[in-house]
Amino acid sequence: MRAVLSFSGGLDTLVAVRLLQEKYNAEVITVTVDVGQSPETLKMAERRARQMGVLRHIYVDARREFVEEYIFHSIRANGLYEGYPLSTALSRYPIALKLVDVARKVKADAIAHGCTGKGNDQFRFDTTIAIKAPELKIIAPIREMNLDRVQELEYARRKDIPLGPEKPYSIDENIWGRSIEGGVLEDPSKTPPQEIYVWTRPPEKTPAKPRVVEIGFENGIPKTLDGRRVRGLDLITKLNKIAGDHGVGRIELIEDRILGLKARENYEAPAATVLIQAHMALEQLVLTKQELVFKQLVEQRWSDLVYNGLWFDPLREDLDAFIDCTQKRVTGNVKVELSRGSSRVVARSSPYSLYDKKLVSFEKFGFDQREAASIIKFHGLQGKLAKRRKGSDG
Ligand code: ARG
Repeated sequence: MRAVLSFSGGLDTLVAVRLLQEKYNAEVITVTVDVGQSPETLKMAERRARQMGVLRHIYVDARREFVEEYIFHSIRANGLYEGYPLSTALSRYPIALKLVDVARKVKADAIAHGCTGKGNDQFRFDTTIAIKAPELKIIAPIREMNLDRVQELEYARRKDIPLGPEKPYSIDENIWGRSIEGGVLEDPSKTPPQEIYVWTRPPEKTPAKPRVVEIGFENGIPKTLDGRRVRGLDLITKLNKIAGDHGVGRIELIEDRILGLKARENYEAPAATVLIQAHMALEQLVLTKQELVFKQLVEQRWSDLVYNGLWFDPLREDLDAFIDCTQKRVTGNVKVELSRGSSRVVARSSPYSLYDKKLVSFEKFGFDQREAASIIKFHGLQGKLAKRRKGSDG
């Protein structure tokens, strides 16, 4: 049997290689899909794959695709799950698609991944692979053998698996965010140690002087940074650095996983935090109240689908059709001030702005204010009816 394994080089995927070789009698082809993890992580994956004696190791660069086909959609949808910018979830779809491509090219019988049976990623991988390549078997060795971390470490030692000084955390990283779980973080009553943060500085180590960044959107997609046109990948990379230096983008939450478990999650997402905040600010300027209220419902559904592994459910595309329609007017500039760990919108403008200074100004009234009084007479009508009703105690 031939299996293509999604490989990060971390403990789960290392153990998965050996299990596939020994328990499943498989020849293993490891695939690392680049969605913006650090170059050191990518190099480590390649080195460890070779040490494990895999048949082949394949690197696939999916960064542009990830940005243009997933992150941009997520910005337009203000993609947040329980307050965190969807990042790991979003990356699993392009990764799964690349695994399918490779599996077909190398004529594999199965796609394997190192997910445990506790997390969300198994949902995202399994559903996508099953939809796109129903002919391929899905193998999740850690889940199938019901292994925990202690057992995995023990197995790794017994099987001469090349482990370095492993961090006590489970880390997932892509250009849109970094997630840190496990170890001491599993006690939500304890403050996370500083060592978990790599992209963001603690507030006391940020520059004293605030920094204002200006983001230019065209149809809901960020196109310029401080007035200069920059491609999506570069824009996000630059903004991660700028906002991270100002300590922006640390998120700590108790997250409801798909299985219902509550998990303590920590994230760093500097660019995502700033871009979604700026995008929302621009939408407030150009969309009507009715559109804004309805779009929030759509965004909630959209984010749930993406979080829950259902990117390829037709509803996601249906919702995107609505979102795309609203984004025709989401063009303009937003200034965000970054300072000591927080970001704040300070200015916005758009050729499609619905803001009318003449109407709202205190200086000079743009309409006859006396007209408001007659509308207000009806505004509380139902309250009056309820008060008059028999049995009302008011
Ligand atoms: N809880 C987050 C999510 O499901 C992050 C998961 C991180 N995954 C990992 N294998 N460390 O989106």
